[in-house]
Amino acid sequence: MTDRTQSAAFGVAATEPGARVLSGMQPTGDSLHLGSYMGALLNWVRTQEQFDAYFFIPDLHAITVPQDPAQLRQAVRRTAAQYIAGGIDPERSTLFVQSHVPEHVQLAWVLMCQTGMGEASRMTQFKDKSAKGGADSAGVGLLTYPILQAADILLYQPHGVPVGEDQKQHIELTRDLAQRFNHRFGETFRIPEPIIPEVGARILDLQEPAAKMSKSASSPNGLINLTDTDKQIAKKIKSAVTDDGTEIRFDREAKPGVSNLLTIYSVLTGKTVGDIVAEYQGKMYGHLKVDLAEIAVQHLGPVRDRTSELLDDPAELDALLAKGAAKARDVATVTLTEAYQKVGFLPGT
Ligand code: TYM
Repeated sequence: MTDRTQSAAFGVAATEPGARVLSGMQPTGDSLHLGSYMGALLNWVRTQEQFDAYFFIPDLHAITVPQDPAQLRQAVRRTAAQYIAGGIDPERSTLFVQSHVPEHVQLAWVLMCQTGMGEASRMTQFKDKSAKGGADSAGVGLLTYPILQAADILLYQPHGVPVGEDQKQHIELTRDLAQRFNHRFGETFRIPEPIIPEVGARILDLQEPAAKMSKSASSPNGLINLTDTDKQIAKKIKSAVTDDGTEIRFDREAKPGVSNLLTIYSVLTGKTVGDIVAEYQGKMYGHLKVDLAEIAVQHLGPVRDRTSELLDDPAELDALLAKGAAKARDVATVTLTEAYQKVGFLPGT
């Protein structure tokens, strides 16, 4: 499935000039982390070479759980800076903030009216997040969140959406809503494909390798933030939970901890997992961790430092985001106008 969807989407690029991709990552209080960096950002950087790429910061999604306004403003700029420091070229890709393009919310309303309650409440992310605070305390925004995500995507008529594995269900809903709308009102939206990396689509928590790496990790040592110091990065890798036995081999079931470290190693070096396993034959877990700690510091240190340089000039970042939003609106407004007309709204002035 992964290989198929990935090659299907990249195949489109080869045959269709101007094929498009779009994706986004939530601006969180702390930082993007190693999971989102590997599962998404590195793949975005690859896709921008071949596609007309749109990358945005979903700040509207960030208020579906309680948030602090000052922190949100900071997190949006930091996320933009991390996109660029991680390799997104704002000259080549369109970089923007979701709330600067009101068409996202406008299309979301139309799509909400096409979505069943059961369909929305079956989304795993909604179930997880609402379970944490109790279903009654969850806001309606948490329920409609994936529909806003569908609007984010469909407005730009992308061929592919580069995401990690946990977003597959949301892309599936997006495809269902697009198909439903097209069927009901006539061909309007392109049906997008997820673009999921072959390696790194699900990076696990370093302390709890049964769970994916996420900002809601139970221990701060379970996740590496892109803002971590060299010392913190090295310490977290060296203290990662490994499995029983001593043999270094890739086995997701029996050795999830070691397999996770091998995956991270593979993504950061470009070596295959098979080659890495061969290289460490007869060595101890400790050897692998010490080397990986060094590799991770060398790779992530420059991303962190570049991020803080970019944050030193917020006016420049804001100008860049304003330029991106203007470009994004040019595309978004065409799709929204067509969708409004198809559902039967009278044209405005
Ligand atoms: P978010 O912010 O949770 O995650 C951002 C991206 O990072 C990937 N990811 C991971 N990949 C591998 N291992 C992990 N441990 C890991 N954790 C996160 C995610 O799969 C994702 O690609 N709903 C989205 C944001 C969004 C969006 C969109 C994405 C809003 N609108 C439109 C694409 C298109 C989210 O919460 O991702």
